[in-house]
Amino acid sequence: DPTTLFLVAFFAYLLGSVPFGVVITRLMGLGDLRQIGSGNIGATNVLRTGNKGAAAATLLLDGAKGAVAVLIARTVAGEDAAQLAGLAAFLGHLYPVFLNFRGGKGVATFLGVLLALAWPVGLACCATWLAVAILARISSLSALAAAASSTIWMLVLGQGQMLFLGMILTLLVFFRHAANIQRLRTGTEPKIGKK
Ligand code: G3P
Repeated sequence: DPTTLFLVAFFAYLLGSVPFGVVITRLMGLGDLRQIGSGNIGATNVLRTGNKGAAAATLLLDGAKGAVAVLIARTVAGEDAAQLAGLAAFLGHLYPVFLNFRGGKGVATFLGVLLALAWPVGLACCATWLAVAILARISSLSALAAAASSTIWMLVLGQGQMLFLGMILTLLVFFRHAANIQRLRTGTEPKIGKK
């Protein structure tokens, strides 16, 4: 019912709003993430502090919050609610209430949401991210490739029920990477791990 869906979306949004990159770098005394590298709150930028463990933890936790939101929603309210929760958690990461709505680019949360909604699609997108990362060593390019590939994987893997959500998430990932796309075009986007 509408009340359940509203509550599911609300709590998923709150969970997605937790900026693990900011929390972890602050707790570990690695400085103010917003003053480092791209200023983004994601794992890629945490890696620019030089601390791989902090970056890995950010990646895992930003992914896990999306996955957990989906799994809880599915348990309490079913598959449509799970998709709604995935979108809400993703929007929480992009526009977090805890950071004056200035959040991240959503890549880890996007992958976590996909893994929980349909793990073969999530896995295929992770593999796409990894393949491009190994070849090009540019995190944003990998993210754009993984996002762009997601709807294709949904069709190939028989998960057409999540196609609309996939298109929304992909558009938002591209929208949030506007500055990265500009740097990619001018050949000035830094490689993974470089300032
Ligand atoms: O996950 C975000 C990544 O694709 C780009 O991050 O810090 O290089 O803008 P950044």
